[in-house]
Order: sequence, then structure tokens, then C-alpha cells
Amino acid sequence: MARTATLTFNDRSIQLPVVEGSEGELGLDISKLRSETGLITLDPGYGNTGACTSAITFIDGEKGVLRYRGIPIEELARESTFVEVAWLLIFGRLPQQAELDDFRERLVRNAALHEAFRHHFEGFLVDAPPMAILSAMVNTIACFPRRGTEDESPEERFLEDASQLISKVRTIAACSYRRAMGLPFVYPDSKLPYVANFLHMMFSAPYAEHVASPEVVDALNLILLLHADHEQNCSTSTVRIVGSSQANIYASCAAAVGALWGPLHGGANMAVLEMLEKIHKGGISAADAIKMAKDSSSGFRLMGFGHRVYKNFDPRAKILKQAADKVLGQLGVKDPLLDVARQLEEMALKDSYFVDRRLYPNVDFYSGIIMRAIGIPTNMFTVIFAIGRMPGWIAQWKEQADDPKARIARPRQIYTGPTEKRYVPIDQR
Ligand code: SDX
Repeated sequence: MARTATLTFNDRSIQLPVVEGSEGELGLDISKLRSETGLITLDPGYGNTGACTSAITFIDGEKGVLRYRGIPIEELARESTFVEVAWLLIFGRLPQQAELDDFRERLVRNAALHEAFRHHFEGFLVDAPPMAILSAMVNTIACFPRRGTEDESPEERFLEDASQLISKVRTIAACSYRRAMGLPFVYPDSKLPYVANFLHMMFSAPYAEHVASPEVVDALNLILLLHADHEQNCSTSTVRIVGSSQANIYASCAAAVGALWGPLHGGANMAVLEMLEKIHKGGISAADAIKMAKDSSSGFRLMGFGHRVYKNFDPRAKILKQAADKVLGQLGVKDPLLDVARQLEEMALKDSYFVDRRLYPNVDFYSGIIMRAIGIPTNMFTVIFAIGRMPGWIAQWKEQADDPKARIARPRQIYTGPTEKRYVPIDQR
């Protein structure tokens, strides 16, 4: 028996269908609302609005649950790798060995950039923001021919596009770092797996290959895996909106890079480190930071805290907090910012302002500590987030592209501007 909700307005009632998801989530289907009542809904920030149905990622914000294609993030963090999770998100199931081997081979084959990219990098000033470079270069990938044949199947074409994006986003990131450091670009090494190859391209000297320790490779694998998808967040919604016009996957993901850059979203991991450093250097005390965060007029927020969906804890933050301890211990790194982070968390979780608003550490609160310990510069933190999120963007773009009922995104508005008036010639104003 289909469930419905009754809406009564102006002495008229209509029945609106209620959609139920596989985890019991309920949504009011308002597709017919305007045609039957003339009403639209208004929900700034879409906090109460579902833009789509999706089978990729499930989050229960009350219980701190995160699953990729049904598999809990804790199990994937313990058992899987970023490349395998990328395949899982995109194709909806864990790969067979042959499928994973083929995917890895495509990532190796697609790692290098066309030599003409060199001129694009040289066109940027050395202090150009890496996220600006990344967004431009992701779009530019589509300007170059890729392996493929005219009669290739749509599935083959998509798999090559996905492999190009996942592989090249890492090469572009490394090149932007090398350019900023005034170092020569390092070509990908086809013998190295995904993460080790990235670290090689980032840190190898011209005649001394950088061999990352297993602990560092594991730590970065974990960070990328934990960032791989997160349902309809700001940047993923951007991919869907851009992709809904049938723009290609490169343009859609390049737009998502721009959305992720914002300090309220993926840019928070950099802002967390800047905040921790400011406290550590004595610019402000932890108590000052808490006080300012509670004062809405200060414009200051406790970066890395709060979340639109998680209202108890972000399971990724729990995993990263434990990993921070382990990685710094393995690397013999003593980072005073970790102590500052812990102090801040402890103070906030005892303060009614944060408890009442259900503000807890999110994925960005501890990730920067680990990235810093493995040698990633702060201004590359959000770029690392983008590398991790690329498979999620691709999976969500494909899910929408494969949906025969998908329509171009075109939200409505409630107009609050001036009512009709006449044009006044400039000499009469
Ligand atoms: C990510 O959506 C995703 O899934 C994102 C992400 C992903 O994987 O894609 O999880 C990644 O973006 C994590 C979030 C990273 N951003 C930050 O850490 C920046 C700091 N956090 C906030 O700006 C904020 O918490 C957001 C942006 C994360 C959520 O914003 P909301 O849901 O719009 O919440 P809100 O601004 O309406 O806040 C509700 C109340 C307000 O106070 P009141 O008006 O009720 O008095 O809580 C306050 C806010 O002022 N508040 C904070 C705060 N976050 C919310 N106060 C101080 N410090 C904070 N961090």
C-alpha cells in the first residue's frame, strides 16, 4: 500500500506520495506539487531536500554510520585499498581479481600527462593556488586525445574516462607541487602502485627515487579511501548539477573541484591546520578559539567541527583520530598540533554551545595532522581531498547519467525584488 501525505492549502487537499529508501528513510515526492497547487518549496541550503535517489553511499547522521555500497567504512578502512574502493563505488560491487588487475593497469597506463600540459603549468605563477590549477587541468584533460577507437562501447569509453580522471588527478597534483617548489616534474613510475606512485611524483629527486615507507603509503591510502564519497555533499551535488546538462565528466568534476575548495567544505582541512598553528604559536589560546567560535559576531568558526548530517560523530574522524596516533608513532613524529587538537576537542565536547548544537569533529579535524606528518604541505591538503573524492564524483555522475528519468537541474525561487516599474531615461533619474 503506497504511503501518502496530505497537504491542505486554500481549502484544497492533495495527496503527495511518500518514498521509502532501503534503510527506511522517508521522503515526500513533491514532483506534482506545483502543477497541482501552484506552490513550490523553499529550503535554502537544501537541508531538508533530497535531490535524487542513490544507491552509492548511505549515511546515518544520528548513529554515525557511513557505508559505501552497503559496506561499513570501518571494514573498508581496515581491509581494503583506495583503488578497490574506487571500483566498488563506481561499479556497485567489490571487483573480482581480474577486474581489479585490469583497473590497476588502466590507472598505470593513464598516469602520464600529454607533454603539452607542461606549457599549461608554466602559464601559472609559482604561487598559484593548487586548487585553481587542479580545476583548470581536470577540464584540460578532455582537450587531449586518449586511447580509444571510434567503435568502442559506451562502457569502455566510460571506464577509460574514469581511469584517466582517477589517475591523472594525482599526476596533476604532483606537478602543481613540483612547479610551486621550483622542481622538475617527475614522471609516473609504471612499477609503483597508485599511492606510492603519487608520493614518487611528489618527492623524488631527479636522480634519487623517493621510496615511501609502507606506513606512509598506508596512511595516505586510508585518507584517500575515507574521502572517496559522501553522498550529496556540496561538491558532489555540483557534479550532478553540471552533469545534468549532459556536460562531459571532465567538466563536471572540474566544477566539483571548485566547490570543494571552499573553507566550509574541503578547504576546512587547511583551515584546521592554520587554526591549530595559530593557537600553538600563541596567537590565540584554545580557550580564546572556543570563545570566538561561540560568538556568532566574531565570524570565527571552530574549523573541522560540525556537520550538516552527522549529529553525533563523523565515523571518519574517529578512524583518523586513532590513525593519527599510530602514524605519528610509526614515523617517530611528535607534533604539538595533535595535542592542541585534542585539547580543543576536549574543551568543545564539554561546552554546552557545541553539545547543544551537536557539533563534533568531522573528517577534516584530524586529517591534516596525518598529512602534515607524511610530508604533504598544508596548501595541498584540499588537493588530496579532491584526489580521494574523485571516484565518488565519477560514481555519482555515472549514476545520474545512467538514469533514464534524470532531468536537467533547474531549481525554482521565490522572487523578492521590485514589482513591475518603467524604464527612466538617464537625464530624468
Ligand atoms: C566537509 O556535506 C558533507 O558531507 C561534507 C563532507 C564530505 O565528506 O563531503 O563531510 C566534508 O565539508 C566537512 C565539513 C568541513 N567544514 C568545516 O569544518 C567548517 C566548520 N563547520 C561549519 O562551518 C559547519 O558546521 C558546516 C558547514 C560543516 C555545517 O554547516 P550547517 O549544517 O549549515 O550548520 P549551521 O551553519 O546552520 O550551524 C548550526 C549552528 C549555528 O549556530 P546558531 O545559528 O544555531 O546559533 O551551529 C553553529 C552555527 O553558528 N556552528 C558552529 C560551527 N558549525 C556550526 N559554530 C562554531 N564553529 C563551528 N564549526
